[in-house]
Amino acid sequence: MSEIDVMVASDEHLRYVDEILKTISDAAKVRGTGIAKRNPGYVKQKMREGKAVIALDGENFAGFSYIETWGGKHYVTTSGLIVKDEYRGCGLSRRIKHMTFTLARMRWPNAKIFSLTSGAAVMKLNTDHGYVPVTFAQLTDDETFWKGCEGCINHDILVRTNRRYCVCTGMLYDPERARSVRDADEEVAKDRASIEEKIRARFPDGFPED
Ligand SMILES: CC(C)(COP(=O)(O)OP(=O)(O)OC[C@H]1O[C@@H](n2cnc3c(N)ncnc32)[C@H](O)[C@@H]1OP(=O)(O)O)[C@@H](O)C(=O)NCCC(=O)NCCS
Repeated sequence: MSEIDVMVASDEHLRYVDEILKTISDAAKVRGTGIAKRNPGYVKQKMREGKAVIALDGENFAGFSYIETWGGKHYVTTSGLIVKDEYRGCGLSRRIKHMTFTLARMRWPNAKIFSLTSGAAVMKLNTDHGYVPVTFAQLTDDETFWKGCEGCINHDILVRTNRRYCVCTGMLYDPERARSVRDADEEVAKDRASIEEKIRARFPDGFPED
């Protein structure tokens, strides 16, 4: 798997956006879940802002994820994780998560990082990075985040329970929780130096204001 390059995306990767979105929507159909609405312009903006991570096998798209901030940047999510079928089961999503997570920690060190997911693989990755299951009340109250659930087939449950419960599990990494920090440190330890070096090289003038 080492021949696959995982990197913070930039303008040169804009041409992959249509394939990324098609791969995400095809995977959602297979899983039978709904999907957060993402349009090409939004994903392109993430790439331009240095908030997306792409995995390439030479010129071929292999995987992707991006970062979103919520509630005045007090909360961050790593979203839209996707690995193409032929690259699954080899640890690629773990490498992508290491980079989105490290990037999020470097750019917004005081933010809580959360996840709302029904995916077993994502729950495993989150746990390994120090996230713990939480009630929805501990996630952001940013309306824009929750609007993203409107495309999901289970949205009626979220509405019926006044946003307190749904099918997805809420998970939270809290930088003020020592065990979260320890677990995340252990998880990314072997890749940390190379990932941080790559991220710094992508932002030679420091992180952009946002
Ligand atoms: C989920 C997905 C990103 C996993 O990608 P991957 O590169 O195959 O995952 P990895 O090989 O890095 O595995 C990561 C961990 O998750 C586990 N895992 C992977 N797929 C799994 C699955 N379907 N069910 C349960 N666990 C799974 C792996 O065992 C691994 O843990 P381990 O290292 O302790 O064994 C990929 O299957 C995918 O793109 N699925 C469709 C989109 C999706 O579901 N995205 C998540 C939306 S919430």
